[in-house]
Amino acid sequence: MAVLTLDGVVKDFAGPRGVLRVLDGVSLTLSSGETAAIVGPSGSGKSTLLNCIGALDRPTLGTVRLDDGEVTTLGGAALAAYRATHVGFIFQDHHLLPQLTAWENVLLPTLAAGTREGAAARARQLLERMGIAERADAFPAQMSGGERQRAAVARALVNGADLLLCDEPTGNLDRAAGEAVVDLLLPLAVEGVIIIMVTHNRELAARFGRVLELRAGRLSPLQEDPT
Ligand SMILES: Nc1ncnc2c1ncn2[C@@H]1O[C@H](COP(=O)(O)OP(=O)(O)O)[C@@H](O)[C@H]1O
Ligand SMILES: [Mg+2]
Repeated sequence: MAVLTLDGVVKDFAGPRGVLRVLDGVSLTLSSGETAAIVGPSGSGKSTLLNCIGALDRPTLGTVRLDDGEVTTLGGAALAAYRATHVGFIFQDHHLLPQLTAWENVLLPTLAAGTREGAAARARQLLERMGIAERADAFPAQMSGGERQRAAVARALVNGADLLLCDEPTGNLDRAAGEAVVDLLLPLAVEGVIIIMVTHNRELAARFGRVLELRAGRLSPLQEDPT
């Protein structure tokens, strides 16, 4: 059982016209098994927020905790271990290495994390779970967009992440392929993974346990347009 807690997260960037406050006090608690979709206009800080949660970036103020561990102050080996084993990232672009097969791409994070034992079988199982077992030996250029994203999900999970951070993973996919990716993501929560997905697709967002909107640096439950 993992708990992710954000408390008063502020992120400033230095811009041409002075300091740009992108996140202005974001607080959020999600426990194992919970899913959240984050929507919001372009430039509202959605990627910045995921980066702060995944320790790809550091908040200016405030804290991010996973269980009792403060993510915001991690450094060195502890930071590398957090990124490698607790967090799985999925981006709009699959970021698979073109010269490796799907299976080899899924295995790659196990080299960095020192989790090689049983890794070969784990990678195969994940590809099977993502419905692309028969594509294990294909190179990314030989796969469809949806297959590539499903391989990226398998790669994000191979070290046993508690937290899956998905930054517009369906943004480059057609509707059916996007739905298929979400169909594969959501059941992972039942096994205890916390899933956060940024999306512009309101229909996909509505399938998540919570739908949150980032606007003016603040996160709040999405208010449906009164129609
Ligand atoms: N490294 C950076 N340096 C300066 N400004 C940045 C940096 N990263 C993001 N920004 C700015 O922060 C704002 C939010 O960006 P981002 O988090 O990418 O938004 P979103 O993902 O919601 O489209 C934008 O105005 C962007 O230009
Ligand atoms: Mg973004």
